[in-house]
Amino acid sequence: MAKDYVWYQDIPFPPVDIYPELIKTVHEELVLKDEDIITVTYPKSGTHWLIEVLSLIHTKGDPNWIRSVPTYVRSPWIDTASGYKFKVERKEGPPLISSHLPIQLFPKSFFTSKAKMIYVIRNPKDVLISGYYFWRVTNLSKKPESLEQYFEWFLQGHVPYGSWFDHVRGWMSMREKENVLVLSYEQMKKDPRSMVEKICGFLGKALEPRELDLVLENSSFQAMKENKMYNLPDVPEELVPAGIKITRKGITGDWKNHFTPAQTQAFEETFREKMAGLPPELFLWD
Ligand code: A3P
Repeated sequence: MAKDYVWYQDIPFPPVDIYPELIKTVHEELVLKDEDIITVTYPKSGTHWLIEVLSLIHTKGDPNWIRSVPTYVRSPWIDTASGYKFKVERKEGPPLISSHLPIQLFPKSFFTSKAKMIYVIRNPKDVLISGYYFWRVTNLSKKPESLEQYFEWFLQGHVPYGSWFDHVRGWMSMREKENVLVLSYEQMKKDPRSMVEKICGFLGKALEPRELDLVLENSSFQAMKENKMYNLPDVPEELVPAGIKITRKGITGDWKNHFTPAQTQAFEETFREKMAGLPPELFLWD
């Protein structure tokens, strides 16, 4: 059965594999290293896609690693108990890690390190729809009974990892730092080649044209849908029923198939109010 959230510092977290004491330890004690490469997102913004791309950049497009090792082992989520363990016990392999933590709970050590962070931002209306379809069929978090209910929860920030608006506003304060790269899901969809080139430039990695082609081929929506190591392998069926995949539709603008005119208006009002003062060019998706 799905449980309610666990709360830490007024942020709701999914109750599976996450504990307030763990978040406290990660925030206060986890030491990030200069060589770490960190994927940070609000859930359902394209996290797994970026991890697949980073994994493939590491192997120069060779798909063997992504097809034999689960995403959460290649790039462990430090905000989960199992991911934290993978991170601290890892002896070899590329230093990839992931997190959905809001900035105020992120490891303090990051802010004085040279670790590189990539933050993916996605149209929050699509994030809402993607989250609704994911959380309602899995038992990883509190289950919404209807889209109307989830819509209200989302605007209030009563969804896993709290308010999208606060998460993005918080992390956008880091957008001009040398060791932070902000990408958007929509740009990645529109021009994945440029995005991979941008990531390589940021990480100081060079790929041959053929290697770049392989990265793109093996991180396409279709390739990821078929990769068993990507779509939540080894997660017990009582948490994620068989057949549920992260790769749902993989499109931009699905919200238009779901929002009523009144919801669109309410969402846009909240957006304007909460994101006031941030440059509009950060939010180019509609
Ligand atoms: P949808 O539910 O809208 O399809 P996250 O990894 O942060 O949980 O994000 C999941 C979302 O990213 C899902 O969105 C999923 O389909 C989409 N996604 C995953 N891989 C993708 C890819 N290669 N190309 C485009 N979208 C992808």
